[in-house]
Amino acid sequence: MSPGPFLLGLSLGGRRVVAVGGGAVTVRRVRDLLAEGAVVEVLAPQVAPELAAWAERGEITWTPRRYAGAPDLAGAFLVHTATGDPDTDCRVAADAEAAQTFCVNAGDAAAGSAQVPARAVVPTPTGEVRVAVHAGGDPARAAAVRSGLEEHLTSGVVNLRGRRPHGGWVALVGAGPGDEQLLTRRAATLLAAADVVVTDRLVPRALLARLPESTRVVDVGKSPHHHPVPQHEINRILVEEALRGRGVVRLKGGDPYVLGRGGEERAACEAMGLAVEVVPGITSAVSVPAAAGIPVTHRGLARGFTVVTGHEELPGLPTGGDHTLVVLMGVAGLRETAARLVEAGRPASCPVGIVENGWTPQQRVTLGTLADIADRAERVGVASPAVVVVGDVVTLAHGWPARAEGAGAVA
Ligand SMILES: C[S@@+](CC[C@H](N)C(=O)[O-])C[C@H]1O[C@@H](n2cnc3c(N)ncnc32)[C@H](O)[C@@H]1O
Repeated sequence: MSPGPFLLGLSLGGRRVVAVGGGAVTVRRVRDLLAEGAVVEVLAPQVAPELAAWAERGEITWTPRRYAGAPDLAGAFLVHTATGDPDTDCRVAADAEAAQTFCVNAGDAAAGSAQVPARAVVPTPTGEVRVAVHAGGDPARAAAVRSGLEEHLTSGVVNLRGRRPHGGWVALVGAGPGDEQLLTRRAATLLAAADVVVTDRLVPRALLARLPESTRVVDVGKSPHHHPVPQHEINRILVEEALRGRGVVRLKGGDPYVLGRGGEERAACEAMGLAVEVVPGITSAVSVPAAAGIPVTHRGLARGFTVVTGHEELPGLPTGGDHTLVVLMGVAGLRETAARLVEAGRPASCPVGIVENGWTPQQRVTLGTLADIADRAERVGVASPAVVVVGDVVTLAHGWPARAEGAGAVA
């Protein structure tokens, strides 16, 4: 096995780094060095605009001349050379070697005493996880491996739990509408870092099945007419678990802030001094109609949409078919909602689509008009969870022409 490089973490905060050269490679490296808090001096007759701007703002020092010899490197903890001239790079590297200062030679990586690995940072509530990859001096291979590792780390399958030096934490995480492929990467990362997952009824079960066995799952799922855990109790669980030093993910169907009481849960945690990260999810209000082929807006058909929970909110809303209404939790009140909309001025012929269990294998679509949708829904036994869509955009649903022939449900 050939020796090195020995992969080591450098703390560069407040330490002097000299970068010789002013081109694109130096820009990339200096950006990283500044993020680590290094004190950077750039030495080059001309520099790229980014370097000039950083120098102007006092974020780096720029000495506008060519490299003049070893004294230029005095006091540096690290040297970086990328001049585009192999002779100059070699001279800088040799002077650094003589001064026993590590040097990255971007022109000939193997000739420098230090090499920059491909890196990735995965933030978690209990600190960053950093990955560095060196692949036998092949930067493209190192970058590919790094990206693969980063992907793996944020996929939710790697246990990212820390020793909790920072204490407990809470994240309100949207799980999307029902297909685990629609979970965000941040949601997957936080699930992998959580000790406790407090979940809802509409969260994809496959997601929970993939959690490490040691992750405690608390199901506080509500269903219509059945509220096993009251909201104040859910708030108490979140606060208590986090104050005991645990990492808590509050996993909610769709998006936490769309008819999901996410704001209340965040306020309850913050009132107890807990910082809360909120991770948006794909809301059912838009994505479940989409699963049936219905865009909530469409040029020439609808220019806006409103999301409501039932018939109370209906008076005062636009009544034209070009304004889409999306009704969540609207199955029980469907007949009354349809009647109220007609009373309010929508034509009885206004198209309506009901999408049950969107994005799951049980998805079913029932199409009709305000005049007949309640009867059609009753006939096929429409049940919650379902999204009801009212407006001309429903004519874009997969299978819409079948309705005209009198079919009640279109799968
Ligand atoms: C309490 S609301 C929560 C909405 C959620 N925060 C969101 O952004 O999707 C629950 C309602 O969302 C709708 N819903 C959520 N997921 C659904 C799905 N996969 N299929 C059909 N409707 C769904 C139903 O109307 C259900 O009664």
